[in-house]
Amino acid sequence: MSPTPIVAPFPAGRLRRLRRTAALRALTAEVGLSAANLIWPIFVTEVAGAEGPIASLPGVDRLTLDGARRAAERAIALGIPAVCIFPHSDPDQKTDGCERAWDPDNIGNQAIRAIKKVAPDLAVMTDIALDPYNANGHDGLVRDGVILNDESVECLVRMALAQAEAGADILGPSDMMDGRIGALRGALEGAGHRDVAILSYAAKYASGFYGPFRDAVGASGRLVGDKKTYQINPANRDEALRCVARDLAEGADMVMVKPGMPYLDICRMVRDAFAAPTYAYQVSGEYAMMEGAIRQGWLKREVVLEALLSFRRAGCDGVLTYYAPEAAELLAKG
Ligand code: PBG
Repeated sequence: MSPTPIVAPFPAGRLRRLRRTAALRALTAEVGLSAANLIWPIFVTEVAGAEGPIASLPGVDRLTLDGARRAAERAIALGIPAVCIFPHSDPDQKTDGCERAWDPDNIGNQAIRAIKKVAPDLAVMTDIALDPYNANGHDGLVRDGVILNDESVECLVRMALAQAEAGADILGPSDMMDGRIGALRGALEGAGHRDVAILSYAAKYASGFYGPFRDAVGASGRLVGDKKTYQINPANRDEALRCVARDLAEGADMVMVKPGMPYLDICRMVRDAFAAPTYAYQVSGEYAMMEGAIRQGWLKREVVLEALLSFRRAGCDGVLTYYAPEAAELLAKG
């Protein structure tokens, strides 16, 4: 008896064929990640002794102006196109009126000028919100426990003009007040700052993942209540589309989804709906989660690039990430 013939039940498509070698994998990669996709958020302090490590953001330091200059030079060397400045201001000068937010010499504006001087080709992004200068930690003015919308927008406009005057390339309103993009755009045009770009934090959620950031800028102990009356409810999806549509119509050049990894569905939706320059913020809590696990030895460093790639897959042009310098170094090593 002859042996039973083997009838090969081969799969119609062998998807493993293109995964076999590094060359084939490179050839068939659908998205790429490069230093050009990164925006590096940095914390700059004016408080003597506050520079250095931030406990809940291991690996991230508060910088002096000198440190900010060195970070700018490092960004240029690594091919990172932009840094985003977050001020850590003198706690004794935080007020309920937030007047220092539009002081031309506040620490944020000093940092813009310092960086532009040493790295004129680096794009400098700012944050527009009153929280670094607000005694109660909110992004807007507070009266009788209520966040005032239109009065806050007036302050944000002053803040934006001071930042534009200091040389900012990209303004990042993160405050979530209604009507702020139109007001900022109108004021910038009126003041002759026609080429200053606005990257709107359009879809910014009321998230617990901002915790370590609030430590970094010294807002944690101050915040009275929460930000749920102005940031988006994490249960909502369509509302993010309405926010983005409105901000683009009011004059935003670029839009952001924030946080990032828990909101990749929103990134993809925004990209598909508007085909506008779309960014995600991999926020402090996301960084802290990964970095904490890496430092414990529970995850390997390779997760850093894998996580950043997820934003590219979700349709983002770029990512604000505290991993920017490290990721750029890993990418340069190949
Ligand atoms: C506030 C602002 C926040 C972040 C950026 N701008 C915090 C907040 O809304 O409370 C968070 C960034 C991060 O967590 O890394 N205007």
